Amino acid sequence: MKVLCRNMELDREQTMISSSPFVISFLLLVSVPVLFVLAPRVLPPKTLPSIPNRDEMDDLALFRRATLASAGGGGGLRRRAAAPPKIAFMFLTNSDLSFAPLWERFFRGHERLFNVYVHADPSARLLLPPTPSFLGRFIPAKATQRASPTLISAARRLLAAALLDDPTNAFFALLSQHCVPLHSFRFTYHAVLANSDVPLATNGDGVLRRRHRSFIEILSGEPGLWDRYVARGDDVMLPEVTFDQFRVGSQFFILARRHAVMVVRDRRLWKKFKMPCLKSKEDSCYPEEHYFPTLLQMQDPEGCTHYTLTRVNWTDSIGGHPHTYRPPEISGDLIKELRRSNSTYSYLFARKFSPDCLDPLLELVDITIFRD
Ligand SMILES: *[C@@H]1O[C@H](CO)[C@@H](O)[C@H](O)[C@H]1NC(C)=O
Ligand SMILES: *[C@@H]1O[C@H](CO)[C@@H](O)[C@H](O)[C@H]1NC(C)=O
Repeated sequence: MKVLCRNMELDREQTMISSSPFVISFLLLVSVPVLFVLAPRVLPPKTLPSIPNRDEMDDLALFRRATLASAGGGGGLRRRAAAPPKIAFMFLTNSDLSFAPLWERFFRGHERLFNVYVHADPSARLLLPPTPSFLGRFIPAKATQRASPTLISAARRLLAAALLDDPTNAFFALLSQHCVPLHSFRFTYHAVLANSDVPLATNGDGVLRRRHRSFIEILSGEPGLWDRYVARGDDVMLPEVTFDQFRVGSQFFILARRHAVMVVRDRRLWKKFKMPCLKSKEDSCYPEEHYFPTLLQMQDPEGCTHYTLTRVNWTDSIGGHPHTYRPPEISGDLIKELRRSNSTYSYLFARKFSPDCLDPLLELVDITIFRD
């Protein structure tokens, strides 16, 4: 009996110690930081890398400046009524601009009608020296990767730089180092500038203004769209972007100035699209093909043609890369074929071409490409 009593005493003591709120709290307090420190080292991350905070801060400051400078939408254009509208050619690249000599031929003699801007991934080693049109036209750039929103950031950086640089930039064409022109500059300029199917709009002071439309592909109901929508996780796009509002289209667009401002000013959709994709959804991670068409469809669908002017060949594509044209394929007939479009607009640019296509393309400049 005595022994039993003693055991009961002990039991009571143990129970008191282990259930003491102090001890439990203490253990919890210790284990939480330990988990936080250890978990990321032990468990592999579930998402692809996110955008570095410092890059985001820099961009925010740049975009704010570009938005402020563009406030009043086109006021700058009126102030410089004598200057003709320009096209900003914005090159997004992570390797040499192999077709620069072809672009030089394209630009020659039209210096008052365009500006060039280049965003070159800082980790890319460009071996070719810049040709005159590209010299000094490189904007401050940050690292870009596939399957990451950094490609959106780079395009927005180009838009912001071009908006700030010249108030007469009226259109903003995004291109890559693999893009080539399919027409002469004169044809391209008039095709882009003549496009104002949208009814004339009156601005504040009663002056009739032409509202240009943007050339941007905007598609819905494409196969695989749901996988692209949930690439960042289930339901994470809500409430800003429902699946019904989610669009897809080529990353290569030509935006009218008011749409360039719209893109640079946006923070609501960016908050969602900047989220990194889940590692398990890497194959469905192409945020740059969704952000721009989704944003413009939500804000000004009538102001867009819904077609891109950059031709691409997706036949037999591998790993998300389109067909890359090689020198034996280059001919006048190919150029004519690539121009043909289902929309009312001829294609103005095409991709992708391997760097060694430069010489065969230069040979076609006078007999095909610039004859239109
Ligand atoms: C598209 O690429 C395929 C090969 O992937 C090629 O056979 C075809 O001719 C190309 N189409 C055009 C219009 O260039
Ligand atoms: C035009 O539309 C047809 C039918 O949808 C399609 O097969 C073809 O590839 C399109 N051509 C171009 C140049 O987009």
